[in-house]
Amino acid sequence: MKEFERLAKCLEAVRKKTDFVPDVALVLGSGLGGFASQVECEAEISYSEIEGFPRSTVEGHKGRFLFGRVNGVKTVVMDGRVHYYEGYPTKDVVLPIRLMRLMGAKALMLTNAAGGINPGFHAGDMMLIRDHISVLVPNPLIGENVEELGTRFPDMSSIYDKELSDAVLETAKGLGIELKEGVYIQTTGPSFESPAEIRMAGILGADAVGMSTAVEAIAANHAGMRVCAVSCISNLAAGISPTPLTHAEVQECADKNAPRFTALVKESLKAISSKL
Ligand code: HPA
Repeated sequence: MKEFERLAKCLEAVRKKTDFVPDVALVLGSGLGGFASQVECEAEISYSEIEGFPRSTVEGHKGRFLFGRVNGVKTVVMDGRVHYYEGYPTKDVVLPIRLMRLMGAKALMLTNAAGGINPGFHAGDMMLIRDHISVLVPNPLIGENVEELGTRFPDMSSIYDKELSDAVLETAKGLGIELKEGVYIQTTGPSFESPAEIRMAGILGADAVGMSTAVEAIAANHAGMRVCAVSCISNLAAGISPTPLTHAEVQECADKNAPRFTALVKESLKAISSKL
């Protein structure tokens, strides 16, 4: 089946349940699991209800779309995302992003938990993603181009929209939250990186490392969405951290900083929507 046909089928399944047209799409990363309470929910669809949809298998990652207003902004929320390390090709990983585009979303806000590589970072910091390195994972656009969404060879010189990103930065300032800025590198996972890999990533110009986001940003940019993204630095990366890394540590730190992260995302949505 052609990818666009598959997407059209998924959209049909969504449209059977709701005719909600979002302005903004939001992907919740680790630590924002509780964000659902911020949504004045008009409709909810489990990923399992959509035939052909990849499902999240990670603990702490639910799998559902929420539709409703967040801080007055018409938003579709992905409560739980799918990762490459779960065994899905990156084309499947980005299917939900493309689907949210077809629902009508003009902008995408991505969030995640990430390991800090920049020596100036501490656990609990927030980082605005200004650019990314995605070459360690397969490009999600590999395969027949989905002409209905975008061109074969899309430009990626400004994946993260400057105006939206600046709006997030201003929002953080207004909230008194220090927001760092930097480059995110996506690794495949599921293992954390080795110290030598983290040194390599630092030399390549990465400030933070994680197992999601970059492929989603590529697919969104290809499909003409304006993208912004924020990482919660949940730990120092391998070799920088003096202790072995665990998923529990990542989850714990992300949970601890959830109130700040939630406030930043909630206010940012409003700022972003005013630029659309
Ligand atoms: N490495 C990769 N992914 C991550 C990390 C990390 O240190 N922390 C949170 N997600």
